[in-house]
Amino acid sequence: MRMIVTGASGLVGTEFGQLASSQGHEIIPAVRRRQQSGVYWNVAEQTCDTEGFEGIDAVVHLAGENIAEGRWNDAKKKRIRESRVEGTKLIASTLASLQEKPAAFVCASAIGYYGNRGDERMTENSSPGEGFLADVCREWESTTKVAADAGIRTVQGRIGVVLSEKGGALKQMLTPFKMGVGGTIGSGNQYMSWIAIQDLARALLHCVTDSSLNGPVNLVAPQPVTNREFTKTLGGVLKRPTIFPVPAFAAKLAFGQMADDLLLSSTRVLPERLTDAGFQFEYGDIKEALSGQFG
Ligand SMILES: NC(=O)c1ccc[n+]([C@@H]2O[C@H](COP(=O)([O-])OP(=O)(O)OC[C@H]3O[C@@H](n4cnc5c(N)ncnc54)[C@H](OP(=O)(O)O)[C@@H]3O)[C@@H](O)[C@H]2O)c1
Repeated sequence: MRMIVTGASGLVGTEFGQLASSQGHEIIPAVRRRQQSGVYWNVAEQTCDTEGFEGIDAVVHLAGENIAEGRWNDAKKKRIRESRVEGTKLIASTLASLQEKPAAFVCASAIGYYGNRGDERMTENSSPGEGFLADVCREWESTTKVAADAGIRTVQGRIGVVLSEKGGALKQMLTPFKMGVGGTIGSGNQYMSWIAIQDLARALLHCVTDSSLNGPVNLVAPQPVTNREFTKTLGGVLKRPTIFPVPAFAAKLAFGQMADDLLLSSTRVLPERLTDAGFQFEYGDIKEALSGQFG
């Protein structure tokens, strides 16, 4: 297949591109600077090289302002929202306008859609939650409707916490853990729905190629864990103690609103549609998944 990937240089885009290329697919990056090689698009200008999208087989849309880096002030929150909502609006309307439309449009979303829900088990049919991220995700997903209404099979991939040594949440946690000052955050009872980066790339490719998948698909491993279990397992894999808990107030002081929406929020999500579609996880267990990042 010939696929266009937005956010191709990011953590997920790089892994996805490598996997898809290794299986013989052609990956064309959507680029935000004209001098780069690929198909040009620019959210701020609301410009897209429509011709470059003609006749493509699939589009995987992963672009968005990084969520985990930097403090969430008003300007950062505006970039987080606009890069996703306006970016998706641009891509979805471009796809809808094509003469030769792609067979599949797979758009990233996040489990932030469900908000802070304690130990409730959530599937794709669960209601959306409340808060900044939940609002962004809801708006982000609803923007894909233009493409779906134009007859393109559209999947919103609700991605969990991606485990990779190369970036994202795990990379940020590694320094304190390796120094032996890792520990639980807040009560430690909050659920974290995670996915190994290798499985995420495979699951995204599954969403592209499996024509039975449509609408929201949770991209998480089948066994979410509490922050306490995650902390203990990461300490075990790194052979470091985890006896320095970070109280909720300290997390809020250090990270501001990001602490409430990401670190202290409890989201227990199950990959019902992916499992029903026959997808097999290589890393279904947190210990295997963490060990699998430090080869
Ligand atoms: N990593 C996670 O744990 C996680 C969890 C849930 C959901 N997700 C979602 O999955 C997608 C990919 O995540 P990721 O971890 O690969 O993110 P990432 O490493 O931050 O990469 C995102 C890519 O998007 C592009 N980008 C950055 N800022 C942008 C902006 N302001 N406007 C438009 N494009 C911008 C860049 O690619 P180019 O320079 O190539 O354009 C960047 O490399 C994101 O939508 C993210 O919200 C990730």
